[in-house]
Amino acid sequence: MDFALSEEHRMVQQMVREFAQKEVAPVIKEFDRKQEMAPFVLPRMAELGILGICLPVSYGGQGMDYIALGLACEELEAVDTTLRVVMSVHMGLNSLALFQWATEDQKQRFLLPQARGEKIACFGLTESGAGSDAAAIRSTARRAGDEYVLNGEKMWISLATKADHILWIGRSDPQAPDPHDGLSAFLVELDRPGVGRGDIHGKLGVRAGSTGWISFQDVRVPADHLIGEPGEGFKIAMSCLDNGRYTVAAGATGLIRACLEASTKYSHERQAFGRDIARFQLVQQKIAHMVQSYDAARLFYQRAGWMKNQGLRNTRETSIAKWFATDASFAAASEAIQIHGAYGYSDEYDVERYLRNAKGAVIYEGTSEIHQLIQAGYALGYRQDAPLRCELPAYEIQKWQQEDFH
Ligand code: CAA
Repeated sequence: MDFALSEEHRMVQQMVREFAQKEVAPVIKEFDRKQEMAPFVLPRMAELGILGICLPVSYGGQGMDYIALGLACEELEAVDTTLRVVMSVHMGLNSLALFQWATEDQKQRFLLPQARGEKIACFGLTESGAGSDAAAIRSTARRAGDEYVLNGEKMWISLATKADHILWIGRSDPQAPDPHDGLSAFLVELDRPGVGRGDIHGKLGVRAGSTGWISFQDVRVPADHLIGEPGEGFKIAMSCLDNGRYTVAAGATGLIRACLEASTKYSHERQAFGRDIARFQLVQQKIAHMVQSYDAARLFYQRAGWMKNQGLRNTRETSIAKWFATDASFAAASEAIQIHGAYGYSDEYDVERYLRNAKGAVIYEGTSEIHQLIQAGYALGYRQDAPLRCELPAYEIQKWQQEDFH
């Protein structure tokens, strides 16, 4: 067993940390207050190669492994959740799905520009009536000759107004006896006629990001935009979530670390009853819990990343990593505010933003309640993983870094 990070891992960590801490941290409060995404974020992430970090060089990526993806997410969310959300949807929920399920031709057409950051990608599963119950999707995909006609509205879509591509899930077979089997996945360019979209305002957190709705009214796409086979949409969506949840887990780990760092700094600076508040045992207890949570969350996500590298199915391990880290990050942010006292309640300090941002991740990509049901399902023998027609490829350094993937 090897817990050490490689030289390349440390370089990724350093590069992403510098971007997030030096370029984003100084302006994040301003954009959080304005409820806008900083305009330089996406182009700069593309330029640094972050948007294609764990994809093979031959598909426009950086040829790093899945642990490098987790480390990048940890560094991004240690500054602001909105940065990590970009990785969750662009990479976790979309690009990795293309890497896993798309044909070679589709990879060249869609994945390559996404990995280079020339096209930004999002994920369209959720609808106003289909959240935890993802199979309740009402959007439809009707075959018409060599095209599909897509209709319906997706809600709570991260990067809704920033993305060029969406991996869109709709019902292609309303007669399928099992509703799971009636869904199909499509890669759709969002400049097609019939697409409408907008941002949702008034969110509790992730305010420096874009969260919105995307509606399709008779949007026509060529049949070669179907990803996977007809009826495979639910499985594809769930496999997307195995990757998206991994990025959420790693990011929440970074948020716990940010809470810990802010709390240790403040408790050394702030005096009460004639001493640093760091000297009080009840403050120390809160800090000790953050240390424990950070270590455990990091081990959970890195185990899932290691399994991805080995090509092992990791639905259970990713789910527990996401459940633990997001709950723990919300608790850490709440305790960080408690340590900061009244100052923590204002946006003079970052910890109030951490709490607002942490709450979202306890809800999206599977609520904590859904993850508890998943874990209980495995433990009780109600849930088993069946092999997939296409698995996420195991990491092979030489193959990933050569010009031709095959
Ligand atoms: N990978 C591949 N296939 C999977 C899978 C996985 N991880 N999980 C399940 N499947 C397969 C099953 O094997 C099963 O296949 P068979 O029919 O061949 O047996 C099929 O899918 C149905 O599985 P379930 O019976 O488990 O389906 P279910 O309807 O009971 O759902 C669930 C289970 C866990 C509740 C699931 O619906 C779920 O995870 N819900 C949460 C949805 C979610 O996370 N939404 C987040 C949206 S994205 C987002 O938030 C991002 C953003 O933009 C902010």
